[in-house]
Amino acid sequence: MKKIGIIDSGIGGLSLLSQLIGQSLDAEYFYISDTHNVPYGEKPQSFLLEKMIEMSEKLIFKNVDAIFIACNTATVSTIDQLRQQFQIPYIGIEPYINYLNHESSPGKLAIMLTPATANSSRFKSLVEKFDPNGEVYIYTPPQLALIIEKLQSKSFAQLKTQIDAELSQLKNKDFEKLILGCTHYPIIKNYIEEELGLKTIDPAEQVINHLKKTLELENSNKINQEFWANFDNSTSWHKYKIDDFNFLKP
Ligand code: DGL
Repeated sequence: MKKIGIIDSGIGGLSLLSQLIGQSLDAEYFYISDTHNVPYGEKPQSFLLEKMIEMSEKLIFKNVDAIFIACNTATVSTIDQLRQQFQIPYIGIEPYINYLNHESSPGKLAIMLTPATANSSRFKSLVEKFDPNGEVYIYTPPQLALIIEKLQSKSFAQLKTQIDAELSQLKNKDFEKLILGCTHYPIIKNYIEEELGLKTIDPAEQVINHLKKTLELENSNKINQEFWANFDNSTSWHKYKIDDFNFLKP
């Protein structure tokens, strides 16, 4: 059985973990996040690197076989340096702007991501390569990841006005598709689609397939809901069940 470490700033990576768990793979998961410092979207690169090193060390201490950075912001700003520093394989998620390359008629497209991701040189070079004419509208909602993070203690209804305000810039603009460039956003994917009248594109499926291939993950015949988590970049780990996180349910 393979051990997989997963990192995000907060609850966003749980959207990917729940898909992994849903596929009943022969794997054990260790989820680590940095709840005290969420959101990462406005933090400087040096801070993100320091935190990613700390969390990587904690996962390596747990003997994981690979680290999955389930955070676009952290991937684009730190994965190259982490790969240089640690021997362990890293798999990251990054904004799926190369979608343009896969689709013959991509339609009127927007991408939503955090300010740190949008400002990273990695994202800028993706744009240069795949969208040199700037056809994709780039939008960085200032608070959306943080508001979604609050779903842990508040209901959707309590946060709806704030969510609507964050999405309002994309409303009535006739976008056909919206790329979700932050792992927090798929948590409210159904609402985004309904509110904006478009289809969302989530890079998760591609990345999960890549992870399965790279680690040669086998299917297991057991359904196991459980995973280890350490939500505050501390030294203590506890077991959870993915089904207990109600906000992940569609
Ligand atoms: N979920 C993360 C991402 O994919 C970061 C969100 C944040 O902390 O700002 O970018």
